Amino acid sequence: ELNRTVYERIGGDKTVSALVDAFYTNVAGDPILAPIFPNDLTETKRKQQQFLTQFLGGPSLYTEEHGHPMLRARHLPFPITPRRAKAWLTCMERAMDEINLPSPEREEMMARLTMTAHHMVNQPEEHR
Ligand code: HEM
Repeated sequence: ELNRTVYERIGGDKTVSALVDAFYTNVAGDPILAPIFPNDLTETKRKQQQFLTQFLGGPSLYTEEHGHPMLRARHLPFPITPRRAKAWLTCMERAMDEINLPSPEREEMMARLTMTAHHMVNQPEEHR
């Protein structure tokens, strides 16, 4: 168990795929996230599947096709406020609930994703 990656422990490709599907369904229904995403999420999902696979210790699918992830740079065209980072993480946590992702992998993943999401913030909060 100690020698296995999180990717393997959660069930590999089919679990990541179920998580990605559930996550983007939640994103599409989120009033502050949906407007900054494309209407057709097919390509977004495909890239996220590749990214999460390598993030969790599986094969380096994202880098093989797109090069270094440079996630912060790739997110600069999108206004990512602290509220949007929080909404992203809520969509992910709900997706994990929906697919019954096991503990402790789920907590381990959320801890790393929380740091990554905060690192993506590139705009201050919009006040009205
Ligand atoms: C792409 C939003 C956090 C991974 C995108 C796109 C948006 C977005 C709008 C472009 C979608 C497209 O054009 O297809 C956000 C917001 C976040 C966030 C609001 C809140 C903090 C994250 C985190 C990760 C991540 C934490 C890492 C797990 C990716 C990847 C892509 C992407 C891999 C595709 C990059 C590419 O074009 O190759 N994100 N994102 N994002 N995001 Fe995020």
